[in-house]
Amino acid sequence: MASYDVIVIGSGPGGYVCAIRCAQLGLKTACVEGRDTLGGTCLNVGCIPSKALLHSSHLLHEAEHNFAAMGLKGKSPSVDWKQMLAYKDDVIGQNTKGIEFLFKKNKIDWLKGWGSIPAAGKVQVGDEVHDAKHIIIASGSAAASIPGAEVEIDEKIVVTSTGALELPKIPKKMVVVGGGVIGLELGSVYKRLGSDVTVIEFMDGITPGADAEVARSFLKILKKQGMEIITGAAVSKVETLKTKAKVSYKMRKDDSEHQMDADVVLVATGRVPFTDGLGLAALGVAMSKRGQIEVDASYRTNVPGVYAIGDVIDGPMLAHKAEDEGGAVAEMIAGQKPHIDYNLIPGVIYTTPEVASVGATEEQLKEAGRAYKVGKFSFMGNGRAKAVMQADGFVKMLADKDTDRVLGCHIIGPAAGDLIHEICVAMEFGASAEDIARTCHAHPTFSEAVREAALACGSGAIHA
Ligand code: NAI
Repeated sequence: MASYDVIVIGSGPGGYVCAIRCAQLGLKTACVEGRDTLGGTCLNVGCIPSKALLHSSHLLHEAEHNFAAMGLKGKSPSVDWKQMLAYKDDVIGQNTKGIEFLFKKNKIDWLKGWGSIPAAGKVQVGDEVHDAKHIIIASGSAAASIPGAEVEIDEKIVVTSTGALELPKIPKKMVVVGGGVIGLELGSVYKRLGSDVTVIEFMDGITPGADAEVARSFLKILKKQGMEIITGAAVSKVETLKTKAKVSYKMRKDDSEHQMDADVVLVATGRVPFTDGLGLAALGVAMSKRGQIEVDASYRTNVPGVYAIGDVIDGPMLAHKAEDEGGAVAEMIAGQKPHIDYNLIPGVIYTTPEVASVGATEEQLKEAGRAYKVGKFSFMGNGRAKAVMQADGFVKMLADKDTDRVLGCHIIGPAAGDLIHEICVAMEFGASAEDIARTCHAHPTFSEAVREAALACGSGAIHA
């Protein structure tokens, strides 16, 4: 048993960043983690491993589809699935060990096991009860099942993203339930590896909530890549047969019922806060109807000394949102006054092309009755994008009609997930589209497309 200033429960991006920031600010800190490795969903079974598989499968796609045109001839590489999974596992290992190193460097104790909060100021891990002036819950989220549907997830034939990252073999036929971020990223991986992939999405378009013009363009591009996407369809049942599964769905427009067989079904219909075993009900922690922990603007729950951040509270379930909250709560405990602008949390989908956005969508501006202007620039007019055969997509900038202040930006195209940060910084500083347009951008870069979109908010882009 030991006594700490702060005990963080969970070592995902929210928890580990919080622990490191607490330690940097001079607080005696421990972090509870029950997995064998640190890093939570993101490093072990989420963001990082999926990016390894997206990278290797993208290179395969390039070899199969673009190498010959670039004058690279010869036998196309074949997939050694075992080795690809080993590469992915190695990437996980490097990252999780990196966090272990950072914990040691910052003198953070890793309390190994699953934590619970038997009383305010106490954290139990196994048989040991530790004292903590501040307890931060950063226990993350778990895959949700399909709302209102009969489905049994066995992580072999019917899988969540976790099972999809370690399938024993590449399935011939994969059905993905849900055309959101996970479904489209992992659907892309298996499509490129040769699976026949069908995505079934409840809404009339993919990536609900995204700027509609970008979502439509994204749908078109994915279909061109050979992904079958059925929209406006509600999956009601997933039955597991011996080595296959049968997916039943109903088309919303005419209530017609359909079935589809698959070797693997990926359930990607969202995630839910993970608070099992923490003892929150007994402790009297207020929860929302959606199972989220309720917190105030300083991430305080209704129980003194107990805070919550990341996927267990309201807001987008994104690693970087959790990281920012982890840093902010640490700084608040240390007496500082941090601030997060929730309007400026970027969202990225790591498909090819990438899709990235920050700020308001055009639909949100319309609904708010805001007078705005649109500056759009296609990657077809960007020399670098053409040189690397990635000219699909565009940058769409939204600015206030009168003041020219940037209100949002939506990018579909090469390196969109990196390009978006120029806009995040610009918006943090309250920049106008003209500020971006007047900033020198190196040539030839994808970033020039962002500048051109800013120019298009004014008197016009150059290469359009
Ligand atoms: P999501 O919320 O992005 O998408 C779920 C989709 O499933 C929605 O489009 C929804 O309309 C659809 N759906 C729901 N019920 C259905 C039914 N019965 N039949 C057909 N479709 C149905 O959730 P997803 O993709 O599972 O991701 C979970 C969380 O993880 C999200 O918050 C996401 O932001 C996060 N994440 C972020 C990543 C990134 O930033 N690149 C990568 C992976 C996950």
